Amino acid sequence: MFNKRTMLVVFMLGGIQACGKTGEVSEVVIKQEAQAETAVAAESPELKIDADSFVCLNEMTAVRHYFVDNLRSDLAATVAAAESADGAVFPPGSVVQLVPTEAMVKHNSGWNAATNDWEFFELDVSAEGSSIRNRGFTDVVNRFGGNCFGCHIKAEAKYDLICELDHGCDPIPVTREMIAGIQAQDPRCAD
Ligand code: HEC
Repeated sequence: MFNKRTMLVVFMLGGIQACGKTGEVSEVVIKQEAQAETAVAAESPELKIDADSFVCLNEMTAVRHYFVDNLRSDLAATVAAAESADGAVFPPGSVVQLVPTEAMVKHNSGWNAATNDWEFFELDVSAEGSSIRNRGFTDVVNRFGGNCFGCHIKAEAKYDLICELDHGCDPIPVTREMIAGIQAQDPRCAD
């Protein structure tokens, strides 16, 4: 925030201060700085998510029992959020998968307040890759008739809609052992 230009302005303000009337001037400068930062955030390109955004689970990064990726090349921040013992807000671009056919992707901040900016995906997967069967925020239903958002929103707020086993979501009828088997058989990983 304090780049050279700001430092110069601050320095100049110091000069003005000597003549009085500082309060008003510095307030204007602070407002301009804030506006400039908002403009930069608004300009950051919308996240592009298509079938190619999803890859074989083995090509993603394993964190404990699930897999993560980041579509904005900010994998370290996604891994840090996933590894946080007490929950964390995932950074934009984060992809989280437990099984090959279901994914959550984090959009830019402000994209959808109801879902904490997460979009839910149901995928079809084969040796040819992934295709998107269904995507959206509050209305995506999985193969078992369950609404992704309906379950994941029940996670305690600090966990940013990540369920695991004890964050407050309704359970799924699949054990971790079964999940490991499903993960190992991701058809996209063939050769
Ligand atoms: C019946 C409730 C329920 C529904 C419906 C559901 N999930 Fe989940 N989901 C869970 C639970 C519980 C876990 C944690 C399982 C575990 O850690 O063994 C989980 C785990 C996940 C994870 C790994 C990160 C995490 O939250 O632990 C992702 C990603 C995920 N689900 C995406 C989806 C998507 C996408 C859909 C819809 C297509 C969906 N889920 C539907 C309950 C649900």
